[in-house]
Amino acid sequence: MGSVGILTGGGDAPGLNAVIRAVVRRSVPRGYRLLGLRRGWKGLLEKDTVELDSRAVSGILHRGGTILGTSRTNPYKSEQQAKRAEENFRALGLDALVAIGGEDTLGVAAKLSAAGFPVVGVPKTIDNDLSGTDTTFGFDTAVAIATEAIDRLHSTAESHDRVIVCEVMGRHAGWIALHAGMAGGADYTLVPERPVDLDAVCAAIRRRRERGLNFSIIVAAEGAEIEEGAVTHDAERDAFGHVKLGGIGARLAAAIEEQTGFETRSVQLGHVQRGGTPTAYDRWLGSRYGLLAADLVHDKRFGMMAAYAGGAFAPVPLEAAVRNLKTVPPETIDLAAALFA
Ligand code: F6P
Repeated sequence: MGSVGILTGGGDAPGLNAVIRAVVRRSVPRGYRLLGLRRGWKGLLEKDTVELDSRAVSGILHRGGTILGTSRTNPYKSEQQAKRAEENFRALGLDALVAIGGEDTLGVAAKLSAAGFPVVGVPKTIDNDLSGTDTTFGFDTAVAIATEAIDRLHSTAESHDRVIVCEVMGRHAGWIALHAGMAGGADYTLVPERPVDLDAVCAAIRRRRERGLNFSIIVAAEGAEIEEGAVTHDAERDAFGHVKLGGIGARLAAAIEEQTGFETRSVQLGHVQRGGTPTAYDRWLGSRYGLLAADLVHDKRFGMMAAYAGGAFAPVPLEAAVRNLKTVPPETIDLAAALFA
């Protein structure tokens, strides 16, 4: 039937192994040979591959991370690299490639597809900011971890009469912050889609004090912007042009303490949100995406991404999925604010 390559690119997300397993389990009985490319697009550039048979994907469903490894390698960073990627695609004898990733990885997949290569995409990102699909796998796990952290921060904040700022991931979109903030009962949530209004945050904290509530929990997405823009801990750009975000929580905590006089701490959840075992939902979602991706390969429906919209699994064009990021709409932010302090 032919050879099918499979790779995982960009930041890892819980549920990646469920996708890999489903693609292999669906395709092997149909007679395909499955070839894993190691560390995302790096595996294509270096022809670094591993055979994936049914045995290789046994016992991986509940495991976090990706058995294939990942990287933020961008083959389209230079013409020379792009040429090498395209040559290697042919040299490896791939009849199809399943690329599992977010905006960057699938952006490369869309370019390869436009160049005539048989590629299928699967939407992955804890940030949930890919268009064309209601939800990406990894998001549910990240929200569950962040919510548990917010629950835990409540008791310590209350015991000490403190404000605690919890910084969560979310580079361009505030989905994790908004969902975990709502589920955890945050007193204020800050997202990248709307500039930080420090006076409003401090007013919410003061209102609670007036009601005799001497502690507050503020949730901030790492990409939330203060006057100078997003806070970075490393301004150097990666192969896709992204800086490393981080530090908004600490900056806000200092500003809140200065403005209100209340003792304030910050916590940066960071990669904890991406690590460890996926939730049942992410294992299910990843498995369904993998099954659909394998079927798209079998039916030679290339240039498509497996998607889940309105309760149904169906493909959407890769190119449409990566055109615009799915950010949180203003009305959803306003609605969430009704629950703030
Ligand atoms: O894109 C997912 C994401 O988790 C972002 O929320 C975050 O900014 C970024 O990855 C961090 O990536 P890295 O693994 O390079 O630190």
